[in-house]
Amino acid sequence: MSEDIAIKIQNLEKVFNPRSVAIVGASSEPAKVGYQILNNVVQNGYKGKIYPINRKATEILGLPCFPSLLEVPGDIDFAVIAVPAPLVEGVLKECVQKNVKGTVIITSGFSEIGKVKEEQVLKDIADKNNIALLGPNTFGFVYSPAKLNASFGPTEVLPGKIAFVSQSGALAISLMGWTMMEKIGLAAVVSLGNKVDIGEKELIEYFNDDPNVSVILIYMEGIKDGRKFMSTKIKKPVVILKSGSSQRGAQAAASHTGSLSGSDKIYSAVFNQLGMMRAKTFTQAFGAACTLSLPMPKGEDTLIITNGGGIGVSATDECEDFGIKLLEDPAWLEEKFRQTMPEFGSTKNPIDVTGGGGCESYRKAVRIALGEDKVKALVVLYCETAVTDPVQVAKAIVEEYIAAGRNKPLVVAMVGGERSRQAIQTFNESQIPAMTEVREAISGLKALYNWQEIVSRPKENVPVPAIPAKALEIIEAIRKEGRTFLLEHESRQVLEICGVPMPKWGFATTAEEAVKVAEAVQMYPIAMKIASVDIIHKSDVGGVILNIKNAEELKARFAQMMETVKRNAPKAELLGVNLCQMVDGLQCIVGMNKDPQFGPAVMFGLGGIFVEVLKDVSFRIVPFSETEAQRLVGEIKAKKLLDGYRGQGAHKESIIKTLMAIQKIAQHVKEVDINPLITNKDGSYAVDARIII
Ligand code: COA
Repeated sequence: MSEDIAIKIQNLEKVFNPRSVAIVGASSEPAKVGYQILNNVVQNGYKGKIYPINRKATEILGLPCFPSLLEVPGDIDFAVIAVPAPLVEGVLKECVQKNVKGTVIITSGFSEIGKVKEEQVLKDIADKNNIALLGPNTFGFVYSPAKLNASFGPTEVLPGKIAFVSQSGALAISLMGWTMMEKIGLAAVVSLGNKVDIGEKELIEYFNDDPNVSVILIYMEGIKDGRKFMSTKIKKPVVILKSGSSQRGAQAAASHTGSLSGSDKIYSAVFNQLGMMRAKTFTQAFGAACTLSLPMPKGEDTLIITNGGGIGVSATDECEDFGIKLLEDPAWLEEKFRQTMPEFGSTKNPIDVTGGGGCESYRKAVRIALGEDKVKALVVLYCETAVTDPVQVAKAIVEEYIAAGRNKPLVVAMVGGERSRQAIQTFNESQIPAMTEVREAISGLKALYNWQEIVSRPKENVPVPAIPAKALEIIEAIRKEGRTFLLEHESRQVLEICGVPMPKWGFATTAEEAVKVAEAVQMYPIAMKIASVDIIHKSDVGGVILNIKNAEELKARFAQMMETVKRNAPKAELLGVNLCQMVDGLQCIVGMNKDPQFGPAVMFGLGGIFVEVLKDVSFRIVPFSETEAQRLVGEIKAKKLLDGYRGQGAHKESIIKTLMAIQKIAQHVKEVDINPLITNKDGSYAVDARIII
């Protein structure tokens, strides 16, 4: 990490745990933002020194006022700036003079309305003086451990362990209200604003070492600096809610690598590669965040306890969907859980204590489940009935969970009306994640298992792979020629040097040479393609002939191709033909192109309809490790075909080898397309290759 960023992250301590706070633009008028911020700082119980800065007033909210930062007698750790845009630069310069190292600029009217230069001036001042600058155009932040509400948002936040970072101020404010209602505790709510300086990376890395935070939840619309974001170090679970899936992704033109990237899939790849978990809705995101504060499961066997068969079945479906393994041991379950239910109850997992099963049934069943090592994670479901009181059920379960020392993950779904809502709050207040939907509860549990997998990944420092000298030489020679693309045989040569597995191939300028090349390596049956800088669509001009079986046919076909192509493209200069062994197998597609945000991205998927119709492809950002390449291959939906289906199967080692090899030229070319890469049980072969520089 660059030293500058490290100092900024260190200086975030002055923002979140300042000994003194100045509010520049504090006002005595309650309708003004400056008043609201000061009021929030005072009302929330912040214990450090508070300095309102206002040119005219002598006192606001009972606190002595100062006309400027420079008039404040003591040191200032952190300044909130809420003055009109043209005055912000001057105030920031005063921060420099006063040695203030943390600021939040509330003021709007910068890059969001096109005033990029004005915003850059602020960034430059902050960088030169190591000031951690949040905003501009932010509603501020709340940090519960310091009882600091430096925002003009709601006054109240329930303290907890989730740090919520939001690119949208309005969403952050509204979700603060929602979390209060749901009784979900927050350690921090940070509105990022235009993030000219402090962004997601800095906050994640600051909260990584903050013992008051156990989970980081981020709402984002887009990343400003993709490469910086890629360098984020993850130590705690990060849940991302990202909106605005790209138009370009939707317009993606089938198998063309270039148009498939730059899309929302790239963001998914980035999150995946960094070990961040993506949520689809804010309830799912908060559900996951709450669940991620629970202890890690010590295995996979999950038990469901329910009072309703229907939601039990639906939870079973969800578990299967999310790949969560249910505990299966009918005899053991019967022995342990029969006592918790009437005779007509079910001891099969889900354990159904039946509709009449109230507080005591749940208490008994939960106590057994928490006490038995065999149960690794617990899902409790409840359907509201007239004969049971959900709040009492919730209280009983909370008591049991606390008595057991919160020893394993427990997630809850309560389906019902107002009383169930109250019961959910009872759970949330006790840091037990409870939802109104079964799917949300199970998806929270899945997030916990995901995090466990992320933590177990090897910590690899992956360097950008170097390009072999010979490959670079070929590329540079073509660049000098003024050409923007490599011919097929040149592409093959470069890729082969880098380690991409090739079928037997060769290049020839005459029929005799073609026969010689083919015989030397026993290439038959052969595909022959015309080589010309002037011809892009080879088959349209008769420049592709497949399945040539022997020398005689090869000679005849060569002559035929030359004649047809000359007739169809009289102006084209014909350089010769590419010869390539015909191979059978599963068609894959491998590509690389440059994402405007994140740089070179490598794509993998199955060819044909899988890429054209289903867009079943996945990406990784260069550089990535072999383990990541394996995860990339395992990520596509049609992965069963790769594992072997109806006799077909893939040679995964050589696919991984291709993905690793292609990274070597990523920094030196614009685009690579290996379409198809044919794979069978013996190996994989780049049957067609194209490089654009
Ligand atoms: N030093 C000290 N005090 C100063 C000052 C300075 N350099 N410059 C101005 N002030 C005082 C003003 O006199 C005023 O105090 P008063 O009410 O006692 O007169 C106070 O600071 C505020 O200045 P004012 O000119 O009244 O501005 P404002 O309150 O109308 O607007 C902002 C200031 C920052 C709120 C406004 O420019 C803005 O950006 N609003 C949008 C904020 C926003 O939505 N952010 C994004 C949320 S997601």
